[in-house]
Parts: sequence; structure tokens; C-alpha cells
Amino acid sequence: MRQAESDVADVMRALFGTPSEPAWPLEILPDIDLVNLESLRRAAGSVSSEKDGTHLGLFREHCVVCHGISGDGQGPASQFQLPYPRDFRAGVFKWKLTERSEKPRREDLRNVLIRGLPGTGMPSFSLLPGEDIDALVDYVIYLAVRGEVERRLLMGSVSVMGYGGEPLPAEERLVYKGDRDDAEIIVDTVQRVVQQWESAQDTVNAQAKTLSGPEDLDTSSSVERGRKWFHSKTANCVGCHGAEGDGGIETLDYDDWTKEYTTKLGISPEDQVALQPFRDLGAHKPRPILPRKLRGGTLRGGNDPERLFHLINHGIAGTPMPGVAIVEEGDGRGLSEDQVWDLVSFLRSLNGSE
Ligand code: HEC
Ligand code: HEC
Repeated sequence: MRQAESDVADVMRALFGTPSEPAWPLEILPDIDLVNLESLRRAAGSVSSEKDGTHLGLFREHCVVCHGISGDGQGPASQFQLPYPRDFRAGVFKWKLTERSEKPRREDLRNVLIRGLPGTGMPSFSLLPGEDIDALVDYVIYLAVRGEVERRLLMGSVSVMGYGGEPLPAEERLVYKGDRDDAEIIVDTVQRVVQQWESAQDTVNAQAKTLSGPEDLDTSSSVERGRKWFHSKTANCVGCHGAEGDGGIETLDYDDWTKEYTTKLGISPEDQVALQPFRDLGAHKPRPILPRKLRGGTLRGGNDPERLFHLINHGIAGTPMPGVAIVEEGDGRGLSEDQVWDLVSFLRSLNGSE
């Protein structure tokens, strides 16, 4: 594995530079719409200011203490938080208006930075100038792309290229010399990850359907019907969130970032001994993810009807919160659009926003 790690690290430097001195592989991805290189430069590196007051090193100034230099979510203040700060390298984001398996849009990330995530350590950065926010969004995308490419190459090096056994001879090792004819697996991996980000930006218009709630949204009759769907077998919200959304149902489950180094490897999250090697590398102590207390609780993503509609339909990526299919006529397989709106009314009533 050591050979794989060191070869992949060399490839990563050649493709994306380092988190302090970011680069972008223009030879593979000549049309860069996704990130702005000047923004990356501003967000990266150590904290300083230019003569005109422009701040540099924005990520270290505002984010590193929680999210860590490489975006691994292991900054010095991370271990005290619940939930833990996000590890961007998995490329999975929770608070977005795209489909569950899709990347977020820039707009979604911007909203998270501006609003913060109430009820978690993630603060609001609404006081930062717009261009600083944009630069930070670019940089989060950069770290996520870089991290995901790195993880995929590491996995590919073992599963496809035969790393992990005897050391490989020079001609079979992964190298990237800076052109498209280099190892296909590298070019493919980079293109695939970036393509996912790009298509999420493109589907915006189709996805962000102009949802507007029905006229009776938030009325007491809609709330009452919503309460019924909340308890129904099809939605089964009550199975996790408790009657009336009081929470408290202990579903001993974990989020995907934790499962990655526990259950997915066949290790019980309770098994301190088996986990020690991961803990030594900085992995957090696994903590169960609880279905949220909804009545009088804080909605991290906010109270927007459209957002709640989307949440019920798609669930929350990276967590056990499932989505419910929307069908023509509400039946055992899903809920109708009207039923989802009723649920939205019910959720909003629990939060006192009726
Ligand atoms: C005090 C700690 C803290 C600081 C500082 C912080 N964050 Fe976070 N951040 C968090 C936590 C905790 C979460 C996870 C919240 C959750 O899982 O709902 C998070 C989540 C996120 C997410 C994921 C949102 C999603 O949709 O899943 C992004 C993006 C993010 N932070 C960006 C930033 C950026 C950029 C900065 C600096 C400008 C920053 N954060 C500063 C704690 C922090
Ligand atoms: C399998 C268990 C499970 C089921 C079933 C479930 N949820 Fe959740 N739900 C969760 C978990 C876990 C979270 C916390 C995820 C997080 O924020 O990290 C959550 C979070 C939420 C949130 C908080 C979102 C925010 O912005 O903070 C809402 C609202 C919600 N669920 C509504 C529902 C509704 C409505 C249903 C039924 C259609 C439902 N849930 C079904 C497990 C579940």
C-alpha cells in the first residue's frame, strides 16, 4: 500500500497541486467553468492581505479549524462537535436542491456558507464580501474534486492496477507527466468526477422546478392531513422521528462518513480496538446519527416550503434519512404531490412557523 500511496500522492501533486498551492489539470480539462483559478489562489495558502485590503488565505482564516487543511474534516476543533465537520473528500453533501446522488450546485454551497447550518458548529459567513464567498465555494469544490479523485485512484490502484502485493516494476506504476496520453485510469477518473460536478450545475434549471406550494399550505386542514401521512406506513416518518416528531427513537445507525471506516470494512463502530489504527490516523470516534427532534427542534436546512418538499422527496444524502417516491396517486409505493405538501405543512407547524 505504501507504494500506492506515494505514487498517488505524486500524481495528485501533478494534477491538482497542493491545498496550499492549488493547480487544475488544464491539459485534461481545458474548459474550466467549474472553478476559477484566481479564486482558488485567493482562498488557498496562508492568511494575509493585499494592499487594497483583499484577503488571501480565506480557507485557513475561516474554515481550517474545523474542516482541516485538506478538507478532511479533521481540523483541531472538529472532535468536539456533533455532527462532526464535513469531510469534503467523499464529495457527498447534505444540504442541496439536487438529487440525492448528485453533487450540489454552487448555489447550494453558497447558501450553506451564507446561512450556516443552525444547530451545528457550521457558522454563517453572511458578513463576508460576496467575492470571498465565491472564492470559498470554488475552493470547497476544488478540495472535494481533489479528494475524491485521490480516493478513487487509491482504490483503483489496488483493485485494477495490482498495487498492494509485491512492489510493482516502474513501467506498471501510476505516473502523470502532464498530458492526456498518460495513464487512462487517471484521465478517466478526473473526467468522471469533474463531469458529475458539471452536470449538477447544468441540471439546475430542470431540477430547481418552480415549486410553489398549494394555496392551502400551512392551513390547519393541511397540517392535520400531514400529521396523518407522517404516521402512515408509506412515509413512516414516525418510525424514526417519533410520534409528533418528538425524536428520541434510538436507531443506532451511523452516517456514511463514519460507515466508511467501520461497518463498510466489517468493523463494529463500538469496537475500539479494531478502530485504533483509524483513530491513530485522525478518524473521529464513531457517534450514532439520531433522527432529528422535529417538534420545536432546529431545522439545519431551514424552513422553506420548497426545501422541505425536496427533503421529503430525496431524503438527506450521506445519512439514513430516506426519500419518499412521489407518485400520481398516493398509494403504498409513495406519496402524491399533495400529500407531500401536507407533510410540509405539518413539519412547519412543528416548528411554529405556521
Ligand atoms: C466551527 C466549525 C466550523 C467552521 C469554522 C466551518 N464549518 Fe463548515 N461545517 C461544520 C459542521 C459541523 C458541518 C456539518 C453539518 C452537518 O452535517 O449538517 C459543516 C458542513 C459544511 C459543509 C457541507 C454542507 C452540506 O451541504 O453538506 C460545507 C460546504 C462547509 N461546511 C463549508 C465551510 C466553509 C467553506 C467554511 C469556512 C468559510 C466552514 N465550513 C467553516 C463546521 C464548521
Ligand atoms: C430511517 C429513519 C428515518 C426516517 C424513516 C425518516 N427520517 Fe427524517 N431524519 C432521519 C435522520 C437520521 C435525520 C438527521 C440527518 C442529518 O441531518 O444529519 C433526519 C432529519 C430530518 C429532518 C431535519 C432536516 C433539517 O433541515 O434539519 C426532517 C425535517 C426530517 N428528517 C423529516 C422526515 C420526514 C417528513 C420523514 C417521513 C417522510 C422522515 N424524516 C423519515 C431519519 C429518518
